Amino acid sequence: MPKLAPLPLLHVCVALAAAGACSGTMHAPADTGAPASWAFPADQVVPTYGADGMVSTTDRVASEIGAEVLRRGGNAVDAAVATHFALAVVNPEAGNIGGGGFMIVRLADGTTAALDFREKAPLGATRDMYLDSSGAVSERALVGHLAAGVPGSVAGMWEAHRRFGSLPWADLVHPAINLADGIVVHARLASSLRSHVEELRRFPATSAIFLGDGQPPRVGDRFVQRDLATTLRRIARDGKDGFYHGETAALIEAEMRRGGGIMTRDDLAAYNAPWRDPIVFEYRDHTVISMPPPSSGGITLAQILNTLQGFDLRSLDYHSPDHVHLWTEATKRAFVDRNEYLADPDFVPQPTRELISDGYALRKRAEIDMDRATPSARVLPGLGPFARTARTARREGENTTHYSIVDRSGNAVAVTTTINSLYGNLVTVAGAGFLLNNEMDDFAALPGTANQFGLVQGEANAIEPGKRMLSAMTPTIVLDPAGRVKLVTGSPGGPTIITTVAQIVSNVVDFGMDVGGATAAPRLHHQHLPDTIVYERAGMRAGTVAALRARGHALRERSGYQGDTQSIVVLPDGRLAGAADPRRGGAAVGVRVARPVVQ
Ligand code: GLY
Repeated sequence: MPKLAPLPLLHVCVALAAAGACSGTMHAPADTGAPASWAFPADQVVPTYGADGMVSTTDRVASEIGAEVLRRGGNAVDAAVATHFALAVVNPEAGNIGGGGFMIVRLADGTTAALDFREKAPLGATRDMYLDSSGAVSERALVGHLAAGVPGSVAGMWEAHRRFGSLPWADLVHPAINLADGIVVHARLASSLRSHVEELRRFPATSAIFLGDGQPPRVGDRFVQRDLATTLRRIARDGKDGFYHGETAALIEAEMRRGGGIMTRDDLAAYNAPWRDPIVFEYRDHTVISMPPPSSGGITLAQILNTLQGFDLRSLDYHSPDHVHLWTEATKRAFVDRNEYLADPDFVPQPTRELISDGYALRKRAEIDMDRATPSARVLPGLGPFARTARTARREGENTTHYSIVDRSGNAVAVTTTINSLYGNLVTVAGAGFLLNNEMDDFAALPGTANQFGLVQGEANAIEPGKRMLSAMTPTIVLDPAGRVKLVTGSPGGPTIITTVAQIVSNVVDFGMDVGGATAAPRLHHQHLPDTIVYERAGMRAGTVAALRARGHALRERSGYQGDTQSIVVLPDGRLAGAADPRRGGAAVGVRVARPVVQ
């Protein structure tokens, strides 16, 4: 087996630069090591190109709406606002006004910003609110009124627009109103609704909207969300007050009273969406900009990549046993810290500087044995325990949605937004027409036990009134060595968001893949506990699986796929290449603005 000693960072980058990887040069799609039966061969994910802008989302209609804003001269943040509200209508499983998320902005003038519109625990929340009489976490953390955090999306869009927007607010909300007044159902929406019929039946207001005559709408049917259109009109007219005050707030409070929830108008009135300092770190001469706590995404991404950048990945075959081994060892060490320390920075001091420092990465690299997997039980939080607790794990899920936007000036926006589980807590606010989130499950309801994603989190992320629950959402922008935007990316997928984004960044930076190849490559996940590498269906060769088992790794093949990335790469000539992930079937829409011919 080849020995791969950690290299000092500078040496790696010099070696890679010689091969073009640190220079921003794009290469032909690499061999991704996937078996012949892999569902998404690299050459079949053909990028979309645009000269004057690009919007990539999980839904073609939402992408078109964002692109139209760019065509009308709006900037990337304007397009994000319009896209966000459009997704709330056409992608009700994850797009939302009843949830929250994070936005990373990188303007052409060099300004970077990170907007936190994560939900907050209601002021009436208590540490043990989800424990049943036997002390176990009950379903109420996931389903029903009590599972909802105070939504942040409308405040987030309002704040982003206040700081960076250029077109009138109402003009950006109006396309979503038109969609809520009636859309023709397309295949992705129909299929999503069809596969969630049982869940959508659980609450009458939800069933009334999505299963009007007892069945979900079919492809080609007209789908009207009248109450949602009315709510959006209030938001278009009154801005964020159209959600957090007045009629909408009253409807939310009434819904809570009806269903035993605790969110009140005071919670809504108190909600704020703060700007935070983004996580910024260097990866092989590139600069990575990502989301700080209360997202764990940026710090965990930095830890994974900081550890990996000590190894010459480019000398390895993609998804060879050495590549997967290194990747796994880096990832499990990052996740144990994530689960132990990271939380809402307004409540718990975050050891950000230590965790993403070069010295810390050096220590982590030194722990890695190329011949043997380190069992997760022996991979401990690197700064000592925050509070030790017994550890168990349960199942993983998929959720959330991401969109990436670049405008003609080179301003870039990455937004990941969620109502947590698909269709959130399954409760629609009657009369207001939108689903609420079940983000409260992202807290450690019982520190030391697993949430729906199998994440075993510690005391730092325990429930407290007004606190934001830890997230894995990782909207990310990568700059090339000259400081120009090179990659805008992100994904849904609970904790797999972080590992998916880490792989996209590494695919582009280390392996020189184009945006289609980087998106198509099979993905892996490891989150410390359970101590298992999870790979996509038909996503790893049998020989690689066997070689990894021989090194002591446990592996499991997922029944489906990981993530739904929406990525944009800025090519060296300035053109934009976009790729929506074929795993769920979105669309990257390029913009080309006609220019007058100069004689
Ligand atoms: N609700 C998924 C996340 O925020 O990571």
